Amino acid sequence: MRAQVGEHHPDLHTVLEHLVSSGGKRVRPAVTLLTGKMFGADPDRLITLAASIEMLHTATLVHDDLIDGSLLRRGIPTVNAHWSPAATVLAGDYIFARAAELAARTDSVAVMQSFAETLATIVNGEITQMFTSRGVANREDYYQRIYAKTASMFVLATKSAALISQSDEKIIETIRQFGYEIGMAFQIVDDILDFTGEQEEVGKPVASDLRSGLVTLPAIYYQENNPDDQDMEAVLRGEYNNDGRMKRLVKAIRSSGAIQQALDEARQYVERGLGFLEQMPDGIERQALFELGSYIIDRQV
Ligand code: IPE
Ligand code: IPE
Ligand code: MG
Ligand code: MG
Repeated sequence: MRAQVGEHHPDLHTVLEHLVSSGGKRVRPAVTLLTGKMFGADPDRLITLAASIEMLHTATLVHDDLIDGSLLRRGIPTVNAHWSPAATVLAGDYIFARAAELAARTDSVAVMQSFAETLATIVNGEITQMFTSRGVANREDYYQRIYAKTASMFVLATKSAALISQSDEKIIETIRQFGYEIGMAFQIVDDILDFTGEQEEVGKPVASDLRSGLVTLPAIYYQENNPDDQDMEAVLRGEYNNDGRMKRLVKAIRSSGAIQQALDEARQYVERGLGFLEQMPDGIERQALFELGSYIIDRQV
């Protein structure tokens, strides 16, 4: 990712350096590297591909934080905390472009195609969330949203690694399903951490989804278990600005069985994913991907 940083405006350079060195968990490139190595991919192409996917992820975060008005990410200020919305959009666009350039360097049209499709899915998902998902406590809507924003990129991370490894159709499809399942679980856990996490630990603002009208799985379970909850009803009617009400509701959800129910559901996604992984070639990479499944559930960050 650093080797990519070429000739551009010094301020853009500072921002890229700031983003790359802020780290993050690097889960998606880890998935790509392990998957590709499992299938015997060429190491240089594989590393380029993994860097491209992490850059794509980084670009979506730059735009996401602007959209959400979030000032903190990975424990440090976001781009939009320093820069105007216009400059932030452009910085994100620049990172998208660099990500695409890296993807193109894999010399695989199929990878480029998947890359573009994934980006279209993510953006369409963000637009849908913005225009039609506020205050919607509906499971189907939720699953579509988390597929679009997160699982789609895990699908890209697995599938593209198989694509550059000359894998056959059956293998590509099976590893894609693995990516889908762990990606869904990853976002469910992110949504749980929004309720249960501490800002200092997760490095980004918490208890923020519901405040912006985003009803995630813990809130859906809570609503199903407590259909007459007045605070929940108010939120579903569009009252997000009553701070007292919101605090009470977040606290109620946090200490309810809904958290455990959502976590159990995430665990089921991982279990299904591991079922697909079992059909893949045995070895240390497959073992590491198995362990990644537990990490996705147990993580606190
Ligand atoms: C954050 O992703 C956005 C989601 C899709 C949940 P990560 O939790 O992987 O973020 P970093 O890269 O580790 O900071
Ligand atoms: C962000 O999802 C997903 C994308 C950037 C497409 P979230 O909004 O849940 O991510 P966080 O919680 O801000 O990391
Ligand atoms: Mg966000
Ligand atoms: Mg989140």
